[in-house]
Amino acid sequence: MRANGHNMTHHWQSVLRDIWGIHATVTPLDGELDLNFLATGAQDYVLKVMRIGCPVDFIDLQCRAFNHIAHNAPDVPVPDVITTQSGEFFASVPDEAGAKRLVWVLRKAEGRTYANFRPQSVALLRDLGHAIGAMDRALADFKHPALARDFKWNLTQGDWISDHLEGITAPKRRALISDILAAFSTIKPALKSLPHVAIHNDVNDYNVIVGGTLTKPPHVTGLIDLGDICASPRICDLAIAGAYMVLGQADPEQALAALVAGYHAAYPLTPAEVDLIWPLLRMRLAVSVVNSTQMALENPHDPYVVISQKPAWDFLEAGAVNEELISKRLRAACGLPITDAAPRVQAWLDQERGNFAPIMGEDLARAPMGTLSVEHSTWPQNPFDLPLAEAALVGQEYEDNGRIWLGYYNEPRLIYTAPAFRRGPWKASNRRSVHLAIDAFAPAQTTLHAPMKATVHVVENRTAHLDYGGVVILRHETPNGDAFFTLYGHLNPEVLETLQVGQTLAKGEAFARLGDVTQSGGWAPHVHFQLALSTDGMGEDWPGVADPDEMYLWGAICPNPAALMNLPDAKVAFTPTDKDAVKAERDRLFGRNLRLSYADPVMLVRGWKHHLFDEWGRPYLDAYNNVPHVGHAHPRIQAVAADQLKRMNSNTRYLHPAQTDFAQKIVSKMPKSLSVCFFVNSGSEANELALRLARAKTGGKDMITPDHGYHGNTTGAIDISAYKFNAKGGVGQPDWVQLVEVADDYRGSYRRDDPDRAEKFAALVGDALAAIEKRGGKLAGFIAETFPSVGGQIIPPKGYLSAVYQRVRAAGGVCIADEVQTGLGRLGDYYFGFEQQNAVPDIVVLGKPIGNGHPLGVVVTTRQIAEAFAKGPEYFSTFGGSTLSCRMGKEVLDIVDDEGLMENARVMGARLFDGLATLQKRHDVIGDVRGYGLFIGVDLVWDPESRAPATQIAEYVKNHLRAHRILIGCEGPFDNILKIRPPLTIDAEDVEMLLTVLGKTLEEVDQMREEH
Ligand SMILES: Cc1ncc(COP(=O)(O)O)c(C=O)c1O
Repeated sequence: MRANGHNMTHHWQSVLRDIWGIHATVTPLDGELDLNFLATGAQDYVLKVMRIGCPVDFIDLQCRAFNHIAHNAPDVPVPDVITTQSGEFFASVPDEAGAKRLVWVLRKAEGRTYANFRPQSVALLRDLGHAIGAMDRALADFKHPALARDFKWNLTQGDWISDHLEGITAPKRRALISDILAAFSTIKPALKSLPHVAIHNDVNDYNVIVGGTLTKPPHVTGLIDLGDICASPRICDLAIAGAYMVLGQADPEQALAALVAGYHAAYPLTPAEVDLIWPLLRMRLAVSVVNSTQMALENPHDPYVVISQKPAWDFLEAGAVNEELISKRLRAACGLPITDAAPRVQAWLDQERGNFAPIMGEDLARAPMGTLSVEHSTWPQNPFDLPLAEAALVGQEYEDNGRIWLGYYNEPRLIYTAPAFRRGPWKASNRRSVHLAIDAFAPAQTTLHAPMKATVHVVENRTAHLDYGGVVILRHETPNGDAFFTLYGHLNPEVLETLQVGQTLAKGEAFARLGDVTQSGGWAPHVHFQLALSTDGMGEDWPGVADPDEMYLWGAICPNPAALMNLPDAKVAFTPTDKDAVKAERDRLFGRNLRLSYADPVMLVRGWKHHLFDEWGRPYLDAYNNVPHVGHAHPRIQAVAADQLKRMNSNTRYLHPAQTDFAQKIVSKMPKSLSVCFFVNSGSEANELALRLARAKTGGKDMITPDHGYHGNTTGAIDISAYKFNAKGGVGQPDWVQLVEVADDYRGSYRRDDPDRAEKFAALVGDALAAIEKRGGKLAGFIAETFPSVGGQIIPPKGYLSAVYQRVRAAGGVCIADEVQTGLGRLGDYYFGFEQQNAVPDIVVLGKPIGNGHPLGVVVTTRQIAEAFAKGPEYFSTFGGSTLSCRMGKEVLDIVDDEGLMENARVMGARLFDGLATLQKRHDVIGDVRGYGLFIGVDLVWDPESRAPATQIAEYVKNHLRAHRILIGCEGPFDNILKIRPPLTIDAEDVEMLLTVLGKTLEEVDQMREEH
């Protein structure tokens, strides 16, 4: 066999050389009747050797179709047909046994099959749709005598399966296929009337090649295999692709919508064609399962046949797609009207604006608007839990003696907190936040009137907390008979008695009253007034709010109802701040080196604990920001700030107990020797002051500091921050600064296998001291971030710092610990990082988290050093130690204690650490996981042996996590270390989210690396 195989490849290698002039190594690919070979050389090709007896016109058809596409639409990713040296598309060549074979050659597409590509993202599906649309457009005028083929995969003739259902024995499955056939028979006439043109007819997930790298988003690089090409309506091509692409998708509706929208963008569809997609898609799956069932009957011992059916059956049986809504969704994704009547209804409503009966019994033209938007409103306090007591007060700031006020349509709000509004498993999953109605707030029992003639369609009392309470849906008709619906929520449930379904109401007729808080679901009295152009697929439970990413659909089904209130649309339509406009203004007004995170930046307008919300109310898990130490928007921080601002806010030239209270609290956490506090406004200012203290004490100027450190953005702080002064365009290293190698025992000179590494790293200080002496300088001290953060979340070996301190002190210097990143309980096991190092600094610098967002820094030192400094001029910082700052700082420290946040950091940190260690076992790209508590670094490497930093992967992961609603950072001299540093409030669910999403992302990374 071996010798045979060798002979065969050798033979075809010679054919390729002699007839095509291509010198390449040939290896067999899979294929049953035909033989396919991969030819690798300067370029990669696929050599196709057809089965004996293959008709010439079948190959001619495929070659000419590929060639036609390539000529008419060079951007469409189909493989080039490589002509023979005499200019033919194919050649007839004897195989090694002498039998004549048709042989042709295609250029190989770069990438892997869609089936094996991850992530199969919405963006990729849109790109695929676009590629198919562009291909179909190019094929539209392709003619060939062999195109008119009758065969089982021509979907217009798919009902051959009705005579072959015998193998499907399960009654439910049989009924399912019968349903699909029945639906197909209703669309068959429409299908027949469409132009029959050349289509690919088999864009399945093995016939799509996808390329994508860490730096280039995934995109379709090849639509291959025209073996099923035939003349059929173009919509069959799209439906067939859809049938494969929905399988295994977590959100098949969204996936299909993206595919269809992409196609429409390249080759616009008509609404009637869009309506055919779903029944055709199901029909293709039915043909597929019936066909493979037949094959299973013929090959009872081949388990693969049954396995291959599974995804299609799973999809058909799962019923995950809302069938009544799917065509509207697909139309909306293309920007087409959701129904043919929809534009007529909207035009009529627009024309009648001003003529409707006032639903609130009065003209609303001058009614004030009140916003509850995520940007402008602070309702609710906790966007994950709205208690009934708070719901009753929502909007109270707009209350004005019972005067009616209106709430916006299209307004993203955070008041919809129940799990029912979540669209995924996590707190940071998408959620329904955008209001699809107008609210009219008015006193309870205010009467509602029908805006026009109506029949009562639904009357209900939905008694769940924060539901509608009494709710009525009315059906209306335009004069030419188009129906539409209006919904009124939060009514007095007496409607159950006073209204009957089917009852007609005259224009202006009173039909309901607003419920009070006990009747309205728990909300302040108002009516939720919503318009719907169709109720298909919504039943009686219309969504009142929609996911912002689904507004393309829900905004089309439930457009702005302003006309029915005789109001201009603009008055009641909410427009969130335009992120792009803010970005443009930022570019105009600020310096270019004020950087934004992420390729697609986020605009964040609210927060709560360890979550943030963008302008559309999309939640993000904040696993990056250490400033909100006790969580974003902490109620105690809000309260203490507001309380102090009500009183006064002044400086340290006056006595105030808040100053000493704060200092007492800080000192209580410190080693005994550190007993004097200075208050400043930032970490930078604190480090500046620390330098002055050290110099005052020693009379020296020179400083020793580890490489890659960061201590702030002021002139003096930059001088001791190698991360800045050595950066591109940086000011360079001052002569009074000596750098020592950072004590990184993963990548540095001494590694974890060396038990003396702490001592060896510490000994490097000796060189620095010698250099100071050599230049005739005088040592002031040593400064280090206890665990270097921008340097790469580094945990120096235990004992390193105490060994360094010994040497520095012996040389007459003072030791400064920058605890901006590591202090205040973040490390879980230690309140300060220097405790882990068994070291007691002479000066400690605190910043960032100590104000929880309020600008605040603190320097703590010994009495002796403070005394030396006091010999100089008066020390004063206008805002440092302001009354407000002191109260806030003290509150932060109290909250860490009261809420057990250091313990939470320990427990959650351990969970994270374990999860990351498990991921490390699965993914070589994780070279190292290090940290304490919620100060964690994940060092990404191209190869665990060389430990070469995987910068591009870290960037990919960071952006990918952002797309999945998780904020983290990248750090280290090579930006290859994932920095995980959430507020200390993070809980188990969110740790789980982080680990799950990171795991999936790393799987994708592994796959993309295999590619190269
Ligand atoms: C370790 C360390 N020290 C000092 C600073 C400077 O603090 P600020 O930005 O408050 O001036 C930072 C800021 O990132 C820091 O990480």
